[in-house]
Amino acid sequence: MWDYTETVLDHFRHPRNVGRVEKPDGTGTVGSLACGDSLTLTFKLDAQGRIEEVKFQTFGCASAIASSSALTELVKGKTLAEAEKITNKEIAEYLGGLPEQKMHCSVMGREALEVAIHNYRTGETMVKELEEKIVCTCFGVSENEILRVVRENSLNTVDEVTNYCKAGGGCGGCRDAIQTLIDQVKTEREAVRQPTTAAAPRKLTHLQQIKLIEEIIDREIRPALQKDKGDIDLVDVDGNRVIIAFRGMCAGCQVSELTRRDFIQAKLRECVATEIVVVEEGKA
Ligand code: FES
Repeated sequence: MWDYTETVLDHFRHPRNVGRVEKPDGTGTVGSLACGDSLTLTFKLDAQGRIEEVKFQTFGCASAIASSSALTELVKGKTLAEAEKITNKEIAEYLGGLPEQKMHCSVMGREALEVAIHNYRTGETMVKELEEKIVCTCFGVSENEILRVVRENSLNTVDEVTNYCKAGGGCGGCRDAIQTLIDQVKTEREAVRQPTTAAAPRKLTHLQQIKLIEEIIDREIRPALQKDKGDIDLVDVDGNRVIIAFRGMCAGCQVSELTRRDFIQAKLRECVATEIVVVEEGKA
């Protein structure tokens, strides 16, 4: 037996504003009969743009009926801008509280009002086509609401999501979609963790390092030496020591050898590894 307040029981036994407004300005339906809860809200505005008449039809439990009744009382006489600020928490407070497992009933009332206002402003008559995509129509839970509870509470399973916002606790038709959202948040978490490892420099194997040195020599170093009718051979790579031999005009010129060796070493340090030391064959 649910622990209902006197106000809930009063609105359940004597619901206010039941039915459908004739020629309504706005109509909103949320929920699903298949899941046991459905609510249609209709309203009419007066000349000043205030809600003059508002009615509801619901198929649901005592909390759904009481929440819908309370909502209609709360919005009467309000402008649409004022009415759309009403939260499901205010509906529950108006009723003196609702059992935790029944909080979704107050959420449904607020969403039916959002849909009805949307219908008034756009003329769209779809059952639930707001900017926020509804994932669980049984309890009117949007994609953003589910993402929010998953992120804020580090939820990992569909059952946990059901405990937090009711989504998935009815027909179960939305459970796959909820799992997809959980996976999406998991991927986001991974992406936040990974940049440091992804950006870490890749360690080259010895063979890869030799190939890269050859590439740099061919592309960046040899053409410069050849302009002075010189050339270079890669003799060996021993750890970080790169052993080279000058050829052509470069060979035998002591001063220019030192300059060229420094140039080659700087280039290889820049492109391959900062620890590289270039030595000339037979001189180290
Ligand atoms: S759509 Fe029925 S439980 Fe979510």
